[in-house]
Amino acid sequence: MPTVTIDLISEFQLSDSIKAELKELLSACFPEVDYNGRTYFKQLPHYRLILSVDKQIVGQVGIDYRAMNLNNALVTVFGVIELAVHPTHQGKGLGTRLMLEFEQIATTHSNNVDFLFLVTETPAFYERLGYKATTQKVTWLKINQGETYGLGNEQVDDCCLMFKSVGNKHWEDGELDMLGYWY
Ligand SMILES: CC(C)(COP(=O)(O)OP(=O)(O)OC[C@H]1O[C@@H](n2cnc3c(N)ncnc32)[C@H](O)[C@@H]1OP(=O)(O)O)[C@@H](O)C(=O)NCCC(=O)NCCS
Repeated sequence: MPTVTIDLISEFQLSDSIKAELKELLSACFPEVDYNGRTYFKQLPHYRLILSVDKQIVGQVGIDYRAMNLNNALVTVFGVIELAVHPTHQGKGLGTRLMLEFEQIATTHSNNVDFLFLVTETPAFYERLGYKATTQKVTWLKINQGETYGLGNEQVDDCCLMFKSVGNKHWEDGELDMLGYWY
C-alpha cells in the first residue's frame, strides 16, 4: 500500500527541493497558466498543505488567511489557492483528502476563522463537500505577473465564488471587498 502523507508547511519554510516539485506539479495541473518559474500564480500563499505519495509530492493546496469585508462587516476567511492533484493521481480521492484536511485545520481553529472561501470554474467538485455558490459585487487588487495594475470592482458572474461557514456568522450575497488580491 502506498503511504500518503499531508503536511502543513509555512510558505517561508519551503525547501528548494519542495519548490522544484511544486513547480512541476502546478504546471502539470494548470498548463494554461504561465508561472514564469514561480511556485505561485499571483502572490505567495501563507501556508500550503502538501500531499505526498511514497514521499513524492503529487498534490497541494495553498492557504490564504485574511480578513475580508462582507456587506460592511469584517470576517475572517481561510481561502483555497490552487488546489492541485497531479494528473497521474487524479480520481483517487486525493483532492478530497486535501480539502477535508484544509477544513479540519480551520475547524480546529474556529475561533479565528469565520468562512472557507474559494473561486472556481468547477463548482461541482466543491458542492459535494458542502460549499455553496454566492453572488457578489467584488472589490479586489488586480495583480498580474508581478505587477499591480488597478482595482477591480465588479459584479462577478464569469466564475463561481463559493463559501462554507466555519463559525456562527451568516454569509449573504451582496458586496465583498477582498481587502487584497484575488486568488
Ligand atoms: C480538481 C482536482 C484537484 C480534483 O482532484 P482529484 O484527486 O482528482 O479529486 P477526487 O478524486 O477527490 O474526486 C472526488 C470526486 O470529485 C469529482 N471531480 C474531480 N474533479 C472534478 C472536477 N474538475 N469537476 C467536477 N467534479 C470533479 C470526481 O469525479 C469524484 O467524484 P466521485 O466521488 O463521484 O467519483 C484535480 O482534478 C486537479 O488538480 N485538477 C486540475 C487543477 C484544477 O482544476 N484545480 C481546481 C481549481 S479550482
